Order: sequence, then C-alpha cells, then structure tokens
Amino acid sequence: MATAKTASKKKSSVITAPKSNKIRLAFIGTGGISASHLDALRQLPQYEIVAGCDIKPERNTWFKAHDICQNANTYTDFNEMLKKEKIDAVDVCTPNGVHAPATIAALNAGCHVICEKPMAMNPKECEAMCAAAEKAGKLLEIGFQWRYHPSTLMCMRAIKEGVLGDILYVKVHAMRRRGVPNWGVFGQKALQGGGPMIDIGVHQIESAHCAIGQPKPVAASGKTWTFLGDKPSKVVSMWPNWDYKTYTVEDLCVGQVRFENGILMQIESAFCSHLEENEYLNWEVMGTKGGFNFRDNTIYHDMAGTMVNSKAAYLPIGNAWDQFFINKLQNFSDAILKGTPLGADGQEGTAVQKIIDGLYRSAAKGGVEVAIK
Ligand SMILES: NC(=O)c1ccc[n+]([C@@H]2O[C@H](COP(=O)([O-])OP(=O)(O)OC[C@H]3O[C@@H](n4cnc5c(N)ncnc54)[C@H](O)[C@@H]3O)[C@@H](O)[C@H]2O)c1
Repeated sequence: MATAKTASKKKSSVITAPKSNKIRLAFIGTGGISASHLDALRQLPQYEIVAGCDIKPERNTWFKAHDICQNANTYTDFNEMLKKEKIDAVDVCTPNGVHAPATIAALNAGCHVICEKPMAMNPKECEAMCAAAEKAGKLLEIGFQWRYHPSTLMCMRAIKEGVLGDILYVKVHAMRRRGVPNWGVFGQKALQGGGPMIDIGVHQIESAHCAIGQPKPVAASGKTWTFLGDKPSKVVSMWPNWDYKTYTVEDLCVGQVRFENGILMQIESAFCSHLEENEYLNWEVMGTKGGFNFRDNTIYHDMAGTMVNSKAAYLPIGNAWDQFFINKLQNFSDAILKGTPLGADGQEGTAVQKIIDGLYRSAAKGGVEVAIK
C-alpha cells in the first residue's frame, strides 16, 4: 500500500510555495495547547494565521485576542471554515476523538495538516488519515515534539556511532504521582481513546522509538488499573478537582512491546501512582556496549577498566517546551516550502498508535500478549 510517507516524499519535491511565500494557516481546536502553538508561530513569520475554529465561541474570542490572529476569521464548524477560507495548511488541536475527522476533512479540502498527538483514537483512524493524505497528495505531520530534544538527538548519535552496541531493551516512563488533567476531556475514554498511556506515554514511546530507529512493533502485553481518578481527590495536588464523575480511563498502565528486530520496550504511564516523585519524561536504552538515560543525557559504559557515566557537558536545551513547538512547526513549514523531510509523519504516528492499541487490547484481555499487525 502506498503510504503518506511516500506521498510526503513524492509530493515534497513538487510542492510549490504559496504565492505570497507565506503559509495560510488555520486552526481546528483553539483550547489549551493552541496557546503553545501560537507562542511558537510568533517566531515563525512564514505562517499567516487566517482562520480558527472551535466549537466553543469563547475560545474563538480568546484566539482572536492574539496579535497574530487579529485578521483571522473564526468559526464553530470546521467544515464551514474549510469551505469558505483559502487555506494552505491546518493545525489540528482538538481532543483526540476529533483528530481523524478534522484531519481528513482538511486533507480532502486540499490542505497540508499538522495534527497534535496522539495521531488518533486507534490504528484504523490513523490508516484512514494516511490514505486521505496519499489521495490528496498533501503532507501529514503528527505534532510529536520530544524527538527534537537534544537528549533524543544525542541518543540517536550514540547509536549511530556504535557507542551503545546492539540495542536490547528500552524502558519508558511517563509517570505522574497525582496529575489528572482538570481541564478538557482527558478523563473520558469515548473522547480520548484512553488515559495516561495515550496522552503522555505516547510522547515518550514516540521519542524513544524514534531514537532506536523506529523498529516495527509485533506484539504487546499490558495491564491497566483505575483506583483514584474516578473518586474525589482527598489530597492537595497540582491539578485539583478534576471531573471524577466522568472519569472512565486508566490511572496506571504498564506493559511491554516486542519489536521485529528483537528489541523489548517496557512502558509505564500514570495520571495517579504512589511513587516518590513524578518521572514524567524519561526513557533509558540498554545496548550490548552501553546504556543511555534521556533525562540525565548520560551514557553508561565501560572505559579504562571502569564503569563510567558520561554526561553531556553541554546540550542546548534552554526553554525546551517553547523551543520544541518552534521546531515542529518549523519542520512542517520547511517540508511545505522547501520539500525537506517531515519529522513524525503519518507512518510513525500509526506505528506509535499500534503500540498503544496493543497495550490496551492486551489489558482488556487480562494482560495476555496480543499480536500487532
Ligand atoms: N504536544 C503536546 O505536548 C500536547 C500537550 C497538551 C495537549 N496536546 C494534545 O492537544 C490536543 C488538545 O489538548 P488541549 O489540552 O488543548 O485540550 P483542550 O480541551 O484545552 O482544547 C481542545 C479544544 O478543542 C475544541 N474542540 C472540540 N471539538 C471540536 C471540534 N469538533 N471542532 C473544533 N474544535 C473542537 C474544544 O472546544 C477545546 O477548546 C489533544 O489531542 C492533546 O493530546 C498535546
């Protein structure tokens, strides 16, 4: 089957820059995360924001209040926006359940799309998104930003230079002690597809998977538990008073994935867990010659008859959050205007979604291993 990746590569060489050399960009979903996109876009003059759409009129008012959105028209129905506006590219920032319909509608309207993570609710939706991109001959990028982190890039270089040897095992952590989002619909499985694993685990799975060369997942096993999020919180925490009455997702998901090349990945992700402190963003890679720790940007290896920890003396991490949103939107515009390769494309988004889907399918069967196709 032809893929969005091939579509991207094929089309990126023939895509012509918009006449004004500016990308006419529209948003679908102008909630919390769109603020980080808007901050980044302030640094990226190649974009012109022409429209925004949110089903909540108050979000449209908030959006219009930004200096870079003053000339943008706003809508509450994305189909109407896509019909009326002249748009080159769409930035999808809705809850997960709207990613596929909004992305497919935008691609069918002839727009390139950058869609927030996770790519969608399940692999079937991801495949439909890739097919729509292929059919339209448009670019589809998934908004994973941690692949641009200097620590991820350091690990990629270490693997390429053979410093870690053959990769055997990866441990991925996205653990909050108490961090159920108290906004949006993050606790509602029907609208999000799941809880912490699909919401935050997805980031660390993707950046680790990217670092180890994107091997094909073939099997998964996992377990999920809900024991706190569906009850009123009795302790002080960073995001108190979440909507426990509509909470239908897991608090904690733990599992493992096998890849075609034999690598094993263990993953743990939580909105709630009794542990000493958050280990929200970390992964470790273990190889035959060395290991790597993302959070500490450190290589563990043997040298001079000694076990040595080699920590990066300098990495340009800076204000990571802002910078990585700039990176991903810069990558998207470069692909549109210059034909350079996309960061996380539809194929990578689908592979990550298959991992998460495998973990959830296994958990629904009590933890037995399930095949990933
Ligand atoms: N990349 C990151 O680090 C990161 C961080 C946070 C959230 N996200 C992702 O961004 C997405 C949105 O998260 P958020 O925190 O902004 O949530 P949010 O609830 O604050 O915002 C979502 C917005 O989408 C709007 N919306 C819902 N259905 C719509 C529709 N049919 N048409 C138009 N608008 C619609 C809602 O009204 C809301 O304003 C999620 O998929 C989430 O996983 C990514």
